[in-house]
Amino acid sequence: MQATIPVGLDRKEAEAYSQLDPGRLPKHIAIIMDGNGRWARRRHLPRVAGHRAGVTSVRSTVETAARVGIPSLTLYAFSEENWRKRPKSEVDFLMGLLCRYLKAEVPTLNKNRIRLEYIGRLHELPDSVQEKMAWAREATAGNTGMVLTLALNYSARTELVDAFQSLVDAAARNGGVEHLKIDEEAVCRHLYTRHLPDPDLVIRTSGEMRLSNFLLWQLAYAEIYVTPTLWPEFRGTHLLEGIAEYQKRERRYGGLA
Ligand code: IPE
Ligand code: IPE
Ligand code: MG
Repeated sequence: MQATIPVGLDRKEAEAYSQLDPGRLPKHIAIIMDGNGRWARRRHLPRVAGHRAGVTSVRSTVETAARVGIPSLTLYAFSEENWRKRPKSEVDFLMGLLCRYLKAEVPTLNKNRIRLEYIGRLHELPDSVQEKMAWAREATAGNTGMVLTLALNYSARTELVDAFQSLVDAAARNGGVEHLKIDEEAVCRHLYTRHLPDPDLVIRTSGEMRLSNFLLWQLAYAEIYVTPTLWPEFRGTHLLEGIAEYQKRERRYGGLA
């Protein structure tokens, strides 16, 4: 069956989309946006120029994902480790960039019916950043299209630690921990991602073959797509290439082919 091309795709995206099976799109795509520093270094620019250029990639990827009807997109914007291990000047720049992105993008998010969410230890972010984040989330809360989740100050191990603590706290409030029963569903209900299905596809840019502490529980059966493209060069067409690769895979979940 010839797929109807969604409104708003450019010529290259439309061509890539026409190769896809619209009935088998991933329901949740997670992206490790990597390679900003290398992109800048190749151009003899400061690292932060790579982060700035990466915003265009975010915009293109988010819009294309929404247009083709991906229900959930999660972007790893910065990790807890980035927070601790990078110079303060770079972290401050990323905070400023996030605030400017939120302020500038809310109208486009609303136009594309995108609802914004966050995962990570958000309470550790500066108050002024948390205020902008809350504002953007509220401004998009009524949207019924794609859920865009930004992972900020995120660590998968911390998420699991927080989930276990939250399980114990909830049990203590409800009559004591003696009868606490932990199963997979109980853990899922206490993860930051409790409202999201597990990602079907995880994309990492810049060629690195690792998860870097991203969604370790949720990616248990995700298909992994690594592209050498550096994040500042990634566009909607690259996302569609990743989806095409995903559609070639055979998912087994431990069963037989
Ligand atoms: C990814 O780009 C963005 C963040 C982690 C915030 P990097 O800054 O990690 O870029 P490289 O890996 O040094 O090229
Ligand atoms: C992973 O990239 C984190 C984000 C993309 C936000 P890093 O650049 O921090 O990962 P490592 O250090 O190469 O593993
Ligand atoms: Mg990196």
